[in-house]
Amino acid sequence: MKHAQSLDTPVSQDFIDRVLTRQAGRPGALLAILQQVQNNHPRKYLPLETLHYIATRTAVPLSRIYSVATFFALFNLQPQGRDTVSVCRGTACHTRGSRDLFENLLMKFGFQTASDGETDQLSITTPDGSTTLRTVACFGPCALAPVIEINHAIFGHMNEMTLQRELEALDQREPSK
Ligand code: FES
Repeated sequence: MKHAQSLDTPVSQDFIDRVLTRQAGRPGALLAILQQVQNNHPRKYLPLETLHYIATRTAVPLSRIYSVATFFALFNLQPQGRDTVSVCRGTACHTRGSRDLFENLLMKFGFQTASDGETDQLSITTPDGSTTLRTVACFGPCALAPVIEINHAIFGHMNEMTLQRELEALDQREPSK
């Protein structure tokens, strides 16, 4: 049984202040700050209010912070599901059936079937916040096509049966607190 999350609050200012102190003056500090702050959010995203706070405290213009947060696929500006399932839509994976796997995932999670163009850069979260379904251009290990990533673990040579098994394993976990 999956649990709904209603944890859409900004990251605590105390936590952000500690991150800013640790990162002060380091090269690439902004990326590290955004990454740590996002990881601290239970729904793994950067609320706008949080970006505002970082801008105020660092004196980096909000427009620059926003453009970094939108440029890197690593950052999310919308709440993410407790679980994330990412389907590769690269050529090798596409020719080995990733489209069908993706369509079945859309149906399983109650989304309308997407048209081809819509599957290229997709990130959608179930209304109960349990699962985010994403597409990516290519994970890299194309020889393992079709490739699916579930909660940062890569699974190669996926088929309907193995995918179903992995999703059932998610459902059977102990509920998180
Ligand atoms: S095309 Fe899917 S991993 Fe490269």
